Amino acid sequence: MDYQVALVTGATGDIGKAIAQELVKNGMKVVITGRNQEKLNKLASELKDGVVYYDTFDINDYEAMKKFYQDVKDQGITIDVLVNNAGLALGLAGYQDNEVSDIITMLDTNIKSVALLSHLVLQDMKLANHGHIIHIGSVAGQFAYANGAIYCASKAAVKTMADGMRVDLVQSDIKITTIQPGMVETNFSMVRFKGDKAKADAVYQGIDALQPIDCANAVWFCLNQPKRCQISELTLLANQQGNAFTSYKK
Ligand SMILES: NC(=O)c1ccc[n+]([C@@H]2O[C@H](COP(=O)([O-])OP(=O)(O)OC[C@H]3O[C@@H](n4cnc5c(N)ncnc54)[C@H](OP(=O)(O)O)[C@@H]3O)[C@@H](O)[C@H]2O)c1
Repeated sequence: MDYQVALVTGATGDIGKAIAQELVKNGMKVVITGRNQEKLNKLASELKDGVVYYDTFDINDYEAMKKFYQDVKDQGITIDVLVNNAGLALGLAGYQDNEVSDIITMLDTNIKSVALLSHLVLQDMKLANHGHIIHIGSVAGQFAYANGAIYCASKAAVKTMADGMRVDLVQSDIKITTIQPGMVETNFSMVRFKGDKAKADAVYQGIDALQPIDCANAVWFCLNQPKRCQISELTLLANQQGNAFTSYKK
């Protein structure tokens, strides 16, 4: 495995944190970001010199994104791996009942920020003919489920965007992967239900949901393939989950 430094977005969230921890455990260095300064500081101090740079910015602010990436480069750091993990669902409502601000935030965070950060980082990966971009998509991008049209569409866009990147980079050694987890027990549902803990907890009741470490293991697996082998997509489901909208709960 000839990757040394990974930039992990959404490292203040559960899956991003697990990914950063797993990569450092396996000897990689990480650049971590998110919005929550306190959580980012805590993870940085836990990972010690596994973290080569960390800072917060709003991933929907392109000027802030460019400044962050330039700051990383000014430290002499070269990003070999980009894990586009930051993302969210807001609300679970019939399409016409979605809040307009929620629609905009989901599309901006899950699609626009992924497109723009990948575009930035690819400028340097392309020059080096080296790198791996891993997108955290979702099984929600494979089939739309009831009351989740925008979130599902945003994750379908991530998968299609990744497929397009892979085609356009076909002559290069750069790899593009989409990891599509099913139900993972994280703060995701608290964000979706805007702090309604009862609703969030109910999502994971009666089922042995995936854990953030399962996603982190998948990232490491994808990175740890021979140079010739590019994993285009990898889907993870809880054992009692059949697809994005079919699961068995006791
Ligand atoms: N949990 C699941 O069931 C599941 C399933 C499939 C896919 N996924 C995907 O996995 C990824 C990680 O989600 P998670 O489950 O770990 O949820 P999480 O714990 O809520 O983490 C979400 C992360 O995204 C960051 N983020 C959101 N908006 C941002 C913004 N505007 N600027 C910067 N950072 C922003 C959050 O940062 P702050 O906390 O600092 O704001 C947080 O670090 C998401 O892309 C999600 O769609 C989750």
